[in-house]
Amino acid sequence: PRILVLNGPNLGRLGSREPEVYGSGNLEDLEALLVAFVPETTQIDLRQTNEEAELIGWLHEAVDTATPVVLNPAAFTHYSYGLRDAAALVTKAGLPLIEVHISNPHTREEFRHDSVISGVATGVIAGFGFGSYRLAVDHILHG
Ligand code: DQA
Repeated sequence: PRILVLNGPNLGRLGSREPEVYGSGNLEDLEALLVAFVPETTQIDLRQTNEEAELIGWLHEAVDTATPVVLNPAAFTHYSYGLRDAAALVTKAGLPLIEVHISNPHTREEFRHDSVISGVATGVIAGFGFGSYRLAVDHILHG
């Protein structure tokens, strides 16, 4: 089995971007952490894009290939109805889509307190650093 781990805008800068908020690990470190966590038979397909259209296309791909999704929508969390509708396609297809955040957006600026994605996600995990992704993958594997 395969798990799509999708990351939105600016997350390609992890490691150097606001380390006091997001930690010092980069996306390669995140991938290594997840690969070490899952059984050998599970493929971690980790991707990042700054483009809304590309992220939406990956969610369509998840539907077409019946692949569970861990999604960090990054700033799109707060305003992208297009991404929300694509996320709804995934969960309406009966596939898990877990929204994750490295930081806890509720402790931060007001505009981060709302997520347009959460209402169509299977669940939301925020505030545990890269552990948010690990908890999401754990749920997909073990319930
Ligand atoms: C984030 C939180 C968002 O508010 C922010 O725009 C990000 C990262 C997080 O993982 O904590 O880019 O999704």
